[in-house]
Amino acid sequence: MLAKRILTATGAVAVMGLALAAYAADSGPHDKAIKARQAMFQTYNFNLGILGAMAKGKMEYNADLAAESAANLNAAANFGQSAYWPVGSDSATLGKERTRALPALWENYADVGEKAKALTDATAILNVEAGKSLEALQGAMGAAGKSCKGCHDDYRAKKN
Ligand code: HEC
Repeated sequence: MLAKRILTATGAVAVMGLALAAYAADSGPHDKAIKARQAMFQTYNFNLGILGAMAKGKMEYNADLAAESAANLNAAANFGQSAYWPVGSDSATLGKERTRALPALWENYADVGEKAKALTDATAILNVEAGKSLEALQGAMGAAGKSCKGCHDDYRAKKN
């Protein structure tokens, strides 16, 4: 009985150890900031995806949803990001599986700022145009898509 209890207790400790190890493997410096910025980018992607599907005729144009998605995108594009990019949270320091943010981003703040401004300029226009008509949405899509790519080309590591 006692042996069984000891075994059970040992088992519990072992399980806890495993759980802790899993937690440690899944957490590292700057994980919260990295998750927050990746969630922000997913928000960009989701809303731009809806607008893109409508613009390409893969989804029926809906003025209300287009306006809402453009407003969401524009709001997310205007997030203050002072705490989102701590020094040392780059792909060279932490590995590409944790973050795809290239170290170059921390070395070129002025250029990154311009690329971010290209995004906020484009999403401001989308925000005005998207709910007017399909043609207006289509006319405003190009600049937004280009602003994403413009930054990814220089500051986001390729997946493989
Ligand atoms: C100013 C630079 C910049 C702009 C503008 C930008 N991105 Fe990114 N994006 C990045 C960087 C850097 C990463 C890598 C972040 C990381 O892994 O820590 C990234 C990552 C992503 C990811 C992957 C997120 C994840 O879950 O790992 C998506 C999706 C994405 N961006 C979509 C977009 C879309 C859509 C736009 C335009 C509406 C956009 N981005 C505009 C720099 C930018």
